[in-house]
Amino acid sequence: MKILFIGARLFNEVAGYAQSRGIETILSESSPESPNLKLADEYHIVPRGMDRPIELALSKDVDAVVPLIGIDIPLPEVARMKEKLEKQYDLPVVASGIHATEISTDKIKTKNFLINNDIKTSNFTEISKSQYEKSKSLLKYPVVLKQPEGQGGVGVKIALTPQDTEDYLKLFPNALVENFIHGAEISVEVLRWEDKSVPLVGVYKGDTTLEGTHPLEKIRTAPVNMENLNYGELRNTAKKVMDLLDANGTAEVEFIFNQEEKEINTLEINTRPSGTRFLTFCSSNINPMHQLVNMALGEWDPKKIENEMKSYSSLEMPLKIKSNENSAKIQDIKISLPDDHIEKQILTPKKPYIIHGPEKASRITVRAGNIEFAYEILKNLKMEHS
Ligand SMILES: Nc1ncnc2c1ncn2[C@@H]1O[C@H](COP(=O)(O)OP(=O)(O)O)[C@@H](O)[C@H]1O
Ligand SMILES: [Mg+2]
Repeated sequence: MKILFIGARLFNEVAGYAQSRGIETILSESSPESPNLKLADEYHIVPRGMDRPIELALSKDVDAVVPLIGIDIPLPEVARMKEKLEKQYDLPVVASGIHATEISTDKIKTKNFLINNDIKTSNFTEISKSQYEKSKSLLKYPVVLKQPEGQGGVGVKIALTPQDTEDYLKLFPNALVENFIHGAEISVEVLRWEDKSVPLVGVYKGDTTLEGTHPLEKIRTAPVNMENLNYGELRNTAKKVMDLLDANGTAEVEFIFNQEEKEINTLEINTRPSGTRFLTFCSSNINPMHQLVNMALGEWDPKKIENEMKSYSSLEMPLKIKSNENSAKIQDIKISLPDDHIEKQILTPKKPYIIHGPEKASRITVRAGNIEFAYEILKNLKMEHS
């Protein structure tokens, strides 16, 4: 079995697993400075885009292609590659196709898709600089201004006053305007392959704020445990979104849950490995990245995943080390970790956490029997939330 992986940055999350399964790994990457290149049996530095990966897949006669791409921009091209390799060469590409990607990478299309399928989402409208005066009186503040494309909060602004909207329109000629929802931000990752999907765990990412702090900056926990939240409905909605989109591989469905109204609003869909995957893994013991390899291997078994899913508590935060003598402990661990450290970080009762992410934006994810213990573990590591 030979697999072409596209993108080296996340390759350290699957290299060890692929090797343990006896897979020959070929890695394609556009940046020669990228980490993890040496973890593959063979790597190729190629120009950006999917033309060379397609050539590589064919010339190396691989059995499957697994894109490991954590950003939105290349997804449409990955989708076109999928259609080509699957239709013309019968070569599976473990990623979402054109239909799903067109919707997930465009927030206006996402809104229309949700509305057309009767999936609850916050009301929205579109405004433009030239037509602003006409729509001005219709906006009820606070509102959220967005661009159709963007991730990690780029182009997203919470407007409290008409002046904020006018300032925003100086930067962008058009905007998507959403009602601001007060509530809990929740993500559910869903795995889907061969028309069968499994929603994994609900991850709580903090409450929405008028300052618009992106959930990446907050402490996050799983499974979400919240009064009035129908957990089954949450997971079913995530599954339904994924099925209706006909998305493939792994994707994340984001929600805002309004506790007073007891309403689960779908926020957006990211058809790529999710930033919540370590929380999902620590909580459910299902590793979404390893499942991509299983899909490629022809070993996709959603029943087995459902049966094996655990329900540990997990907690994650950006790593900020207190400047005292104990902080050295964590520093030592980090420095002594080899390049492929993530898969070498086995969770044990003595070390019930994983440290991951780039040096300057490292994060720690803790696993414990319950959430109080998870906080306790962080406290003992002398770590505090920034
Ligand atoms: N309708 C909304 N109500 C309240 N907060 C929102 C709303 N839409 C977005 N936000 C805030 O902005 C963040 C980013 O918005 P999102 O649509 O998920 O874009 P991105 O692709 O940048 O993550 C959300 O995680 C949330 O904190
Ligand atoms: Mg988002």
